[in-house]
Amino acid sequence: MHSVDYFRTEFISYLEKKIITKEPVNLYEPISYILELGGKRLRPVLTLMTAEIFGVDYKKALDAALAIEVFHNFSLVHDDIMDDAPLRRGKASVHEKWDINTGILSGDAMLINAYQLFENYENDTFRALAQLFTKTAIEVCEGQQYDMDFETRDNVTISEYLKMIDYKTAVLVGAAMKMGGIIAQASTEDQNRIYDFGRNLGIAFQLQDDYLDAFGNPETFGKQVGGDIIENKKTYLYLKALELGTKEQIRELTDLYSIHPNDTKHKIDTVKEVFVETGVVENAKEKISEYTQKAFEVLEELQITKENKEVLREFGESLMQREV
Ligand code: IPE
Ligand code: IPE
Ligand code: MG
Ligand code: MG
Ligand code: MG
Repeated sequence: MHSVDYFRTEFISYLEKKIITKEPVNLYEPISYILELGGKRLRPVLTLMTAEIFGVDYKKALDAALAIEVFHNFSLVHDDIMDDAPLRRGKASVHEKWDINTGILSGDAMLINAYQLFENYENDTFRALAQLFTKTAIEVCEGQQYDMDFETRDNVTISEYLKMIDYKTAVLVGAAMKMGGIIAQASTEDQNRIYDFGRNLGIAFQLQDDYLDAFGNPETFGKQVGGDIIENKKTYLYLKALELGTKEQIRELTDLYSIHPNDTKHKIDTVKEVFVETGVVENAKEKISEYTQKAFEVLEELQITKENKEVLREFGESLMQREV
C-alpha cells in the first residue's frame, strides 16, 4: 500500500502535466491559478487510495481523481463568489484577482472539463462514474442553495444543517471514494460501504471546517478567519449556541446575525466569545468525533484487509487533527 504522501505527489505531477494555459488566456489562466494554488488534495488522494485498496493499479484512477479535484476547485471558485470570500489557500480568490464574470465562466469551464475526463473510461465504468458524478454534482448545488438560504433564515434546525453539509460537502467525499471502487470493480456492497465511510468522514470534515473558520490561525488557515460569522452562516457552532446559550447570549447572537455591520471585527470577537462561553466548541469537537466514529463503524463491514482498514482509519484520525 502506497502512503498518502506518495498518492498526493503522484496526483500533483499528473495534474501539472494536464494543466495548459491556452487562448483565451482570461478563461484558462484563472483555472491554472486555482488548480496550482495547492490545497490538501484530500479527495483525489482518497480516489487513488480506494482504487488501490480494492486491488487495482491506482494509475487507472488518475483521471477520475483529477475530475473530482477539478470539480472541487470549480465549486470553490463559485463558492468564493457566493460567500464574498477574498482569500483562498492564502492567496486572492479568483473573483478577487480577476472579477466575478471571470470566476463564473472559468468555473463553468472547469465543471465541463471535469465531465470530459470521464470520457477516458470505457463502457460500464464510464457510465457508472458519470452517473455517480451527475447525482453528486446536483446534490452539491442543492447543498449550496440551502447554505445560501439559511443565511437569511432564523429558524434553521441542526438536522437541516446536517442535511445541508451532507449535500454541499460530504457526498463528494463519498463519491471520490466510490469512484475508486467503481474503477476497481469492487462489489456493489463494498462500493456502497466505502461511499458511506467517505460521507460520514465528509460530515466530520465540514464540521471541522466550520470550527476552523471561526477559530483557525489566521497565519496558516489560508481563508479569512470569521468569514462565516461575517456572512451570517448558520453553522453548527451558531445553531448549538442558540440551544445552549442564556437568553442574553441568544439575543446577542440573533441580533448580530440579522445585520451586516461595518465593524466586522467587533462582530467576530463578540460571536466567538459567545461560542466559547456556551461550550459549543467542545460540543462541536464531540460531534466531529462522533461522525468520524460512524465512519469507522462502516469500516468493519468492508471486505478488505485489516491493514487497509487501518490505513483508512489513520486517514480519518489525521483529518480530525487538521489545522487547515
Ligand atoms: C474546502 O475544502 C471546502 C469544503 C468543502 C470545506 P478543502 O478544505 O478540502 O479545500 P482545499 O482543497 O484543501 O483547499
Ligand atoms: C463549501 O463550503 C462547500 C462547497 C464549496 C461546495 P464552505 O463555504 O464552508 O467552504 P470554504 O470554507 O469557503 O472553503
Ligand atoms: Mg465558502
Ligand atoms: Mg460556502
Ligand atoms: Mg467553510
